[in-house]
Amino acid sequence: MKMTKEQKYRLLEEAAIEEIQQLESLVHQSRWRQGYHIQPHIGLLNDPNGFTFYNGKYHLFYQWFPLGTDHGMKYWYHLVSSDLAHWEDAGIGLEPGGTYDSHGAYSGSGIEKDGKLYLMYTGNTRDEQWIRHPYQCLAVTDGEGLAQKIEPPVIESVPTGYTEHFRDPKVWKDGTDYRCVIGAQRENLTGTAVLYRSPDLVNWTFEGELQTSLPSFGYMWECPDYFELDDAGILLFCPQGLAPENEKFRNIYQSGYLLGEPLASDGQYFSHGEFIELDYGFDFYAPQTTLGADGERILVGWMGVPDLEYPTDSHGWAHCLTLPRELSVHQGKLIQRPAAGLKSLRGKKVPFAAQLINQHRSFQGVEGTSYELEFSICPIAENSAIDETDTFEEGVFGIEFRTGDMERTVLFYDASNGLITLDRSQSGAACSTEFGTTRSYTRNPDQLGQSITFRIFVDTSSVEIFVGDGEATFTARLFPDSASTGISFFAIGGSADFEGAFWQLDSDGISRELPAEIRQRAKKTE
Ligand code: FRU
Repeated sequence: MKMTKEQKYRLLEEAAIEEIQQLESLVHQSRWRQGYHIQPHIGLLNDPNGFTFYNGKYHLFYQWFPLGTDHGMKYWYHLVSSDLAHWEDAGIGLEPGGTYDSHGAYSGSGIEKDGKLYLMYTGNTRDEQWIRHPYQCLAVTDGEGLAQKIEPPVIESVPTGYTEHFRDPKVWKDGTDYRCVIGAQRENLTGTAVLYRSPDLVNWTFEGELQTSLPSFGYMWECPDYFELDDAGILLFCPQGLAPENEKFRNIYQSGYLLGEPLASDGQYFSHGEFIELDYGFDFYAPQTTLGADGERILVGWMGVPDLEYPTDSHGWAHCLTLPRELSVHQGKLIQRPAAGLKSLRGKKVPFAAQLINQHRSFQGVEGTSYELEFSICPIAENSAIDETDTFEEGVFGIEFRTGDMERTVLFYDASNGLITLDRSQSGAACSTEFGTTRSYTRNPDQLGQSITFRIFVDTSSVEIFVGDGEATFTARLFPDSASTGISFFAIGGSADFEGAFWQLDSDGISRELPAEIRQRAKKTE
């Protein structure tokens, strides 16, 4: 049931304790709670925020509306980790409800300065006419408890030429200055990103628009993130309003990147290639990156998209974050690999290998609801003697997982054209089927006939697939029955060698209980 505006824009203090307890009890009964992904105790999670390596630990926050699964009053919920696999619950990190964030502490980023962690975020406010007035705010923390807001906001108004859709500052250090990029909508209702510069994180000067070669590319750009990696300048952003083009742009909103020359320190001009989607799955949005402990670039995304209903909405919670991924650049494209620390979640290794010829095959001990699978498929040429007529181009190979009596999720690779497809049409409870039930990615023609590897992370209600050595990813929520635990590999119309390993994955260590401090914020009935 949709909430009214008044219900959505309430603070925890305005809720009755019974309301929180009711959500907790719904969540406890949910059969789709994740095992090792970051998820909200109750309510709705969206964008990752403030992702920073600070004082020897990773700090990661997420947008959180505690009181329901609509988008309402947003808090920042805080988690801390040493290895990007196990997380400590650090409670609410930033709370809305002040003069400049009366209607939500919206997305933003973190940066260390003088030994403190600064959070720059969008304070969302609405006036009596429900017109939005965004402020770019600063708060500071030593990594524990609630961040202290520094008032007044550091950017108090929207510059001329842009609408009220002006948000999600991502800040970085540039020489002795700081710069930030903010998602914006021009008055002509096209999306863009703008740049600001500051010597101290408090005084910001508007530099102008980030000048790209996409003057009319959707109506709003959310959650921009600029960084440099392997000598390239990279802008991640989420354009809204792109029309689907064949296999591209199939989700309600997109998330992708431009890769080009690093931005000049004193310039706004960005010379770049085409817009490339970051992920080929159904549920991926608003990613944010940080520099890791060893200078590596780590990305975390929201495993969801805005404005759609999800099967857990009636269970008192919605969405989770993706696993952290390490980025690199290869041939002008971003490569994403699971963060190295995730191997620490692995249980006992179960190896498997078989040659499959027009058949399905399962392996003992290779099944479950929370696991990692790593395997290669090596298509076998029809004639064993290698000659000119030899073809490797026959056959469709793949895996069915979360299989049960009536359910299966299918990932298949068509060796004749390099097409890789994820099919969730039979994955269980339906999820936004109006946007289709398959997603595909096509490999480069020069990879045809070669073997292909996959690393697949399945959790109770999701899958993340890393293709090859990270050349593509598919991220999707799945809502199967808990009894659908099967896995089978298949070769159709050809033969291939399958070889790999399976690991049960442990939980991420986060307590499943809502911290008492949060429950206690709610009103006790007299
Ligand atoms: C993206 C987004 C951001 C905004 C936040 C609010 O999902 O709409 O633009 O800051 O969510 O929760």
